[in-house]
Amino acid sequence: MKRNYVFVSVGLTALAGLAALSASNAQTQMQHRGGVMAMQPAVTKAIAVLHPTQGNNVHGTVTFTRLASRVRVVADITGLTPGQHGFHVHEFGDCSAPDATSAGGHFNPMGQPHAGPDTTMRHVGDLGNITADASGRARLDVVLPLITFEGPNSVLGRAVIVHAKADDLRTQPTGDAGGRVACGVIGIARRDTVR
Ligand code: CU
Ligand code: ZN
Repeated sequence: MKRNYVFVSVGLTALAGLAALSASNAQTQMQHRGGVMAMQPAVTKAIAVLHPTQGNNVHGTVTFTRLASRVRVVADITGLTPGQHGFHVHEFGDCSAPDATSAGGHFNPMGQPHAGPDTTMRHVGDLGNITADASGRARLDVVLPLITFEGPNSVLGRAVIVHAKADDLRTQPTGDAGGRVACGVIGIARRDTVR
């Protein structure tokens, strides 16, 4: 009888222990769940939908797709005057001003001079020029270093700006590309978006 009591007592202690362990497990799982929520899957694709600034009719899309260590930039833009147009990522994802000056200057997290996309010592946002055909349509498909989707060089939440004139790839700090004819905020895209 006494032996049974001890057994039951041990059993109850074990049960209490299991309950405590189970409660502690639940807490750990919640913490883990919090951790998982904080660790979103890495962004592999982003998109900017371009809208015209006041007095212009420039529309288009620009996608950024992560490759191994670089990013592919594909643009399809209409409503341009034929010829070259400066094409940059600007610091702020704010296209609210009628002339898009709210987007700030070229995105330049590394404090480099303005240059062309073939140079490594440049603004991260220096994408060079796009060239519109006689119908006003410009298409671009390039692979660039420097641009990322995380860390100080991340372009997410910043803006793509298309300019009225060509970027001369030299004049500081703007490339003398003139006014801003279209602006679009760079947002996270579905990775299977076909553009
Ligand atoms: Cu610009
Ligand atoms: Zn620049």
